[in-house]
Amino acid sequence: MADSSFDDAIAILGGTGEQGLGLALRFARAGRPVLIGSRNFERANAAAERIRTAVPGAKVSGGENSEVCLRAQVIILSVPFENTASTVKAIREALIEGQIVVSMGVPLASATGGPATQIIGVWQGSCAEMVAALLPEDVHAVSAFQNVAAHRLHDLDQPVECDVLVSGDPQPRKRIMALCELVPGLRGIDGGPIANARIAESITALLIGLNIRYRVSDGTGIRFTGLPDSDS
Ligand SMILES: NC(=O)c1ccc[n+]([C@@H]2O[C@H](COP(=O)([O-])OP(=O)(O)OC[C@H]3O[C@@H](n4cnc5c(N)ncnc54)[C@H](OP(=O)(O)O)[C@@H]3O)[C@@H](O)[C@H]2O)c1
Repeated sequence: MADSSFDDAIAILGGTGEQGLGLALRFARAGRPVLIGSRNFERANAAAERIRTAVPGAKVSGGENSEVCLRAQVIILSVPFENTASTVKAIREALIEGQIVVSMGVPLASATGGPATQIIGVWQGSCAEMVAALLPEDVHAVSAFQNVAAHRLHDLDQPVECDVLVSGDPQPRKRIMALCELVPGLRGIDGGPIANARIAESITALLIGLNIRYRVSDGTGIRFTGLPDSDS
């Protein structure tokens, strides 16, 4: 059964990797309980220890992917695109009605031997829609964070400076937009229905090309102008 911090906790599957660990550091710094998921318990604990070192007092623990899913309302998938379907299938039975699973994966052509500046077609339309199709009906899929660079997340002394297109059903979408505001320099943008994940995922391939052409080692981000200050 869920413990009392279930609603606040954020589980990050593959939180041992660069992107997941970066998000975990930022959410921990904002005071949210973070659960690092991994296929391997020791790797999860080592990542949790890294966070405690960087963010003294962080509420963080590690566990195997399925186990941490039992302890959080929000579950962020931070595994390579090509391992997304198998990861979702492995945790599916552990998911609970009303949970939100966030897809951050990008179907870069590098997954099939092509360049990381291109994406490959996904039958469902995008990685996020593939995730949605694999989830139980009473679990929400939301698309977010694809355009945020890992390096920028890790530099805790600097704001991240990126807009986050958040797509999915209205209520879970609002919930993930609110999470973005926990991280200095991130702004959650109402990205509408989950089919718009196709656009957000494509932008990442474009950003990788910009990083190469402009030699931006920390990664570029995106900003939308002309929007009102609040989402009201
Ligand atoms: N890096 C970025 O700047 C960036 C930016 C935007 C979006 N993203 C997206 O964020 C996600 C994570 O990116 P990343 O750079 O952090 O990836 P990564 O370091 O290559 O992998 C993240 C984690 O995925 C798990 N993993 C690796 N192989 C796996 C497999 N065969 N099956 C299941 N899990 C496996 C590993 O965790 P365990 O071994 O501990 O299980 C690993 O630590 C990707 O979908 C990527 O498209 C990344």
